[in-house]
Amino acid sequence: MSSAEALLAAAREAAEQAHCPYSNFHVGAAVRCTDGTVVTGCNVENASYGLTICAERVALFNCVTQGLQPLELAVSCVDAQEDAPLASRMPCGACRQVMQELLPNDAIVHIDGIGERRIEQLLPDGFSLA
Ligand code: THU
Repeated sequence: MSSAEALLAAAREAAEQAHCPYSNFHVGAAVRCTDGTVVTGCNVENASYGLTICAERVALFNCVTQGLQPLELAVSCVDAQEDAPLASRMPCGACRQVMQELLPNDAIVHIDGIGERRIEQLLPDGFSLA
């Protein structure tokens, strides 16, 4: 199994933990860090819908919490239907902004059922104070 496939497998497994009683849309993310550690996250919804947080941000914030440097990310929307628009597998805009901040500029994002994208492709001309 390639390292990309292993990271996608970790993302799919993380999706099983999703707390998504409102959308029933399970999402998992896995981040490989500079020391080789893989940190995962899943989406966590709330009855106050706007408080929901996406899998990608949970995974990236977990890296920060653990003092780890994110290098590469994989995301899997395991409930995306075969005939659904491919966009239903793509990371949302808020997650792209957080990826830009916490992943290296040339980081690869592996999107299950889509392929590889670089941060610049996902968020051209993103907001930054740096
Ligand atoms: N979701 C993610 O976890 N990541 C994304 O990039 C897009 C959407 C979650 C949020 C919500 O729990 C569910 O998918 C449906 O929007």
